[in-house]
Amino acid sequence: MPLLALETTCDETAAAVIGPSRDVLSSVVASQDALHARWRGVVPEIASRAHVERIIPVIDEAISAAAINRQDLKAVAVAVRPGLVGSLLVGLAAAKAIAGVLQVPLVGYDHIAAHLYACRLAFGDQLTYPAVGLVASGGHTSLFQLNGPLDLVRLGGTIDDAVGEAFDKAASLLGLGYPGGPEIERLATTGNPRAHRFPRPLANDRSRLDLSFSGLKTAVRYQVRPPAAATDRTLSEQERADLAASFQQAAVDSVIAKVDLALTRTRCRTVAVGGGVTANTALRTALETLGRKRRVTMLIPPFEYCTDNAAMGAIAWEHLEQGLTADPTLDVLPGTDRGRHAKALRRHDASQRAPQPRR
Ligand code: KG4
Ligand code: ZN
Repeated sequence: MPLLALETTCDETAAAVIGPSRDVLSSVVASQDALHARWRGVVPEIASRAHVERIIPVIDEAISAAAINRQDLKAVAVAVRPGLVGSLLVGLAAAKAIAGVLQVPLVGYDHIAAHLYACRLAFGDQLTYPAVGLVASGGHTSLFQLNGPLDLVRLGGTIDDAVGEAFDKAASLLGLGYPGGPEIERLATTGNPRAHRFPRPLANDRSRLDLSFSGLKTAVRYQVRPPAAATDRTLSEQERADLAASFQQAAVDSVIAKVDLALTRTRCRTVAVGGGVTANTALRTALETLGRKRRVTMLIPPFEYCTDNAAMGAIAWEHLEQGLTADPTLDVLPGTDRGRHAKALRRHDASQRAPQPRR
């Protein structure tokens, strides 16, 4: 019997039906990109309202595409952290309602762990532990040591903007649409990545696994509007392409330097990556090159599993197999402070642990 997984942490409304052998029977994603495009970024209030409108049709579509009945569902899983509070609440309310009506277990899973679990979906047993995990998305840029699917030890991450946020802001400065990542990637194909030597802060600092992207964003800003200038410069198409390519190269180099350092520190032989920015071809190519250089297994999921989706909610099977289900007091944990989440979850632990089945 399959489970239903929901994902509403940010601006994609997604539902998937997944069988116990992690077979994805259906995966539906309703993107809100068009709604946020004119603001060049996600507007939380618009996102939660759109989730309310879309969540039921998306669930219905996932169930019918999987060719099952609701009654066939064994559990309902929902991403409860981290994310936008209003968005998270919509998914949680839907999951609680369906689990309650069907009288099946409810599972609250971690969106970040799920991004990395996408590698398990795509590569099966090739994802061995311990592994280095890289999550690079619009909201997060972090490195982990993965000791198991649910056991993530944070090694470091951005001290300011997420790398995807930097892509989105750079795109906005260059007058491109939203989301900015794919737009920068497209423009960069005709640009020279060495036209500008943009900063790679912390990249050469081998003492820490932290990253920083706000300086890179500012450097692009100064090219578009030099300090003290009153207005933006009018850039030629080639100048814009060179800026996009040089920006992308700096972002990729910054990420690669820290994945390399994480491999040295942890001595792991496997790297699992996930998050929207790992859909970027330049980053994928650089990761593959690093994998060959370090002779490690580099697991990069297919595009549809990089950006937000509910198929990666397959991680809920790990919860179920460990008897970790939630009671109806399950709540959302917005924000990205994993330390605070851990405390909140410890308090919740007893209630998350399902009673052992009677023998
Ligand atoms: O994982 P995701 O769908 O949502 C979050 O959890 O944030 O990631 C969205 C981010 C956006 O910032 C978007 O610009 C970026 O991923 N992105 C890309 C590409 N595709 C999406 N960045 C660079 N290159 C791409 N091809
Ligand atoms: Zn995400």
